[in-house]
Amino acid sequence: MRQAFLVGLLVSCWVFVASAADAPAPVTVLVAYHSATGHTETMARGVVEGAKSLPGTVVVLKRVSDVAAGDLFSADAIVVGSPVYWSNMAGDVKRFFDDWQLKFGVFPDFKMRNKVGAAFATGGQVSGGKELTMLTILAAMLGNQMIVVSGGGAFGASATTEGDSPGIDAKELASARDLGKRVAEVAWMVKRGAKN
Ligand SMILES: Cc1cc2nc3c(=O)[nH]c(=O)nc-3n(C[C@H](O)[C@H](O)[C@H](O)COP(=O)(O)O)c2cc1C
Repeated sequence: MRQAFLVGLLVSCWVFVASAADAPAPVTVLVAYHSATGHTETMARGVVEGAKSLPGTVVVLKRVSDVAAGDLFSADAIVVGSPVYWSNMAGDVKRFFDDWQLKFGVFPDFKMRNKVGAAFATGGQVSGGKELTMLTILAAMLGNQMIVVSGGGAFGASATTEGDSPGIDAKELASARDLGKRVAEVAWMVKRGAKN
């Protein structure tokens, strides 16, 4: 009786260890943003929600100024958000990308190669540079041989925050969630595919 119990216990331990070894490593998504008055941060939180909707996805939310080398290199996907400043990404976000080389030395090894990348932006005006801001973020990622995806909108998720459309409305927040979900989906595909 006692022997049967011990054998049963051993078998269950073995099944537990074997299934833990089979479990896929989680996908990590880093959401990095700059925000002076909170709008881009609200969108960043939407992106986080969307990415987390895929089970097993680990999401790290940080201001660009707080991102360390470990955050960058351990991430499978990076989503970068910026307010529009003079029709382009904010200086802090540009500094972040410059630091990929100046602080973190991504080149010449292309250390960001094959990580999934995406962008989001907020701007005061309807037609004030949000798409250009997202495209310049994506251009920096492409230069790093990342796998760039969209979601939420053609170039990423965006929101107009001033004039007739103050703050972030429900549709804009939903677009941020869509982007986060899509990034996590593609990151899982890449990670699973890389194993084959
Ligand atoms: C220095 C500066 C330049 C800006 N330039 C633009 C611009 O060219 N086009 C635009 O649509 N909004 C512009 N804005 C408005 C911001 O993009 C907008 O308020 C944004 O939502 C702020 O994001 P945040 O709340 O995350 O800081 C500018 C704001 C600042 C402070």
